[in-house]
Amino acid sequence: MKPFCFADGQIISTEKASIHPMDLGLIRGYGIFDFFRTVNFKALFLDSYLDRFFASAEKTFLPLDYSRAELKTVIQDLIEKNHLKEGGIRMVLSGGVSPNHFSPAKGKLFIFAESLIFPAQEKYEKGIKLLSLEYVRPIAEIKTTNYAFPVWDSMRWKDAGAEDVLYHMNGIISESSRSNFFIVKDGVISTPDVHVLMGITRKHIIELAGDVQIRPISMQEALNADEAFITSTTKVLLPVTQIDDHEIGTGRPGPVSLDLLAKFRELEKELCY
Ligand code: PDD
Repeated sequence: MKPFCFADGQIISTEKASIHPMDLGLIRGYGIFDFFRTVNFKALFLDSYLDRFFASAEKTFLPLDYSRAELKTVIQDLIEKNHLKEGGIRMVLSGGVSPNHFSPAKGKLFIFAESLIFPAQEKYEKGIKLLSLEYVRPIAEIKTTNYAFPVWDSMRWKDAGAEDVLYHMNGIISESSRSNFFIVKDGVISTPDVHVLMGITRKHIIELAGDVQIRPISMQEALNADEAFITSTTKVLLPVTQIDDHEIGTGRPGPVSLDLLAKFRELEKELCY
């Protein structure tokens, strides 16, 4: 974590950031967050992330007493004070201290600056393995801080040599634990439509691809796809070459996935350099 953060309405030393132990964030796992990257000291796709953060606050009934302009000023100050050329910014709004220890209250807003390590290059070159899992994220369209289930379950995937999981329910895929999911078949790109977080990386990959089908995708289709990949802020785009014991396509990252990754990296440069 970088030395300065925003808490209690001001920029302070990160070490001094604190929260009440009875906050709903801790005792009920209730809160929201968002996470974006800085590229060359600029916040990449900042407006898209702020749109989602404001929407998450509204949908979780948590008051957020800052305007977009105020948050942008704070974020710019944090990038400068922390010399955050390439890193991550995490905004967290807790559930607050509630009189009945249950109903959403007035939470605390924190903004942290972090260093960011991308997955190893080998994973981009060889692709990754996902384990399928029957599960749907609760209130999946809101970016809540509730990751208790995947944090607990991750010990199992690690033992199985998998990078992450692929959630599905009644044979229909939604997303991975912290990423969105895409398949490519006969040159057509598709991604699930519901029970997913509307990822900002997903949104830009869809724009870059130009023509993406947003629709229900079955597990069977994914296993028979030519290519598959996941997208997220912290990974950008990682090819998926194995789901459980099934190899996807040729078992190597495919040309459509690699082309989209290259296009995304170009867009980043165009916007931030
Ligand atoms: N995860 N789905 C879920 C459940 C997520 O937590 C995330 C982000 C995504 C991808 O969204 P985006 O492209 O906006 O990052 C999809 C963050 C990075 C995390 O928790 O680490």
